[in-house]
Amino acid sequence: MSESQTENLTVLRAHAPDIEGIRREVLDGLRKPEKSLPSKLFYDERGSELFEEISELDEYYLTRTETAIFIDRIDEIASRVGSGVILIEFGSGNSQKTRILLDHILDPAGYVAIDISQEKLTDSAAAIAAAYPGLNVLPIWADYTHDFDLPALEGSRTVAFFPGSTIGNFHPHEAEAFLRRVAELVGEGGGLLIGVDIKKDARILNLAYDDARGVTAAFNLNILAHINREFGAGFRLDRFRHQATYNEEQGRIEMYLVSLEDQTVSLGETEFSFGRDERVLTEVSYKYTVDEFERLAVGGGFHVKDVWTDPNQLFSVQYLEV
Ligand SMILES: C[S@@+](CC[C@H](N)C(=O)[O-])C[C@H]1O[C@@H](n2cnc3c(N)ncnc32)[C@H](O)[C@@H]1O
Repeated sequence: MSESQTENLTVLRAHAPDIEGIRREVLDGLRKPEKSLPSKLFYDERGSELFEEISELDEYYLTRTETAIFIDRIDEIASRVGSGVILIEFGSGNSQKTRILLDHILDPAGYVAIDISQEKLTDSAAAIAAAYPGLNVLPIWADYTHDFDLPALEGSRTVAFFPGSTIGNFHPHEAEAFLRRVAELVGEGGGLLIGVDIKKDARILNLAYDDARGVTAAFNLNILAHINREFGAGFRLDRFRHQATYNEEQGRIEMYLVSLEDQTVSLGETEFSFGRDERVLTEVSYKYTVDEFERLAVGGGFHVKDVWTDPNQLFSVQYLEV
């Protein structure tokens, strides 16, 4: 594994996401009778910026509520996480919630930040290393849906951190398989501190994913710009529109791009036809009751040790142990 080290920041270079594999995922998704695109492609540099804008929107209660739970319950959370731990964050983004943790947990043995967005990861890891000079910071640019090696680190225990309700972007069977991989990674006695969005009134959910200013629409459409740049596709962003709806039966938000007209789009050698009003699924975001998520966690090899929620029961932060 090649690496470069500056003071307390070690940049590992062995895990660049498998671009060819992601290209195949794009092609496979567009060949399906109900077309879809992999949501990890939202997060190029522009997509990460747009996500940060989303997290500040009035309608997007998720980031605000989860952060408030962290702040209000940080003493209990920090004591559950314990001292001397290796903290591994999946989808670290701007690492803002991590700072609340790092300000309170005792003597962390290292912070491993994993993200698919290279620019965001590089900036956030450098900022964390500068803010916490005694902390060993190891950013890993990787797609966490695939296996990758972790650097060898010595700590009392390993605790994974997966905030942001990102677990909801997996279908339940994938979420369970992901949890199983995390359980294996952190090992017996290891933990997972995770943010899980709770089922609620569909009106609140629909607004959260379709804001008045159109930031979520821009975020959704940006996936096409990313695919154009990365894979030489010919999507015209003005020929699609954003749609988000809560599917009550499935308990999930579904985000689509809807074709505004009959059109053909090339991607390398392949041409794809889109009928007028045809939808391309770009993201799902499953919502769970506390009991539903407990069943999923147990299936993934964890016990739920603590559940912290806000007074309105909009969101939960949970500590799971292997
Ligand atoms: C919903 S955002 C959450 C960001 C941050 N953890 C928070 O709670 O605000 C999802 C993050 O996961 C990253 N991400 C999404 N899919 C990924 C994948 N397959 N592998 C690695 N990172 C991924 C994105 O780049 C983004 O930073």
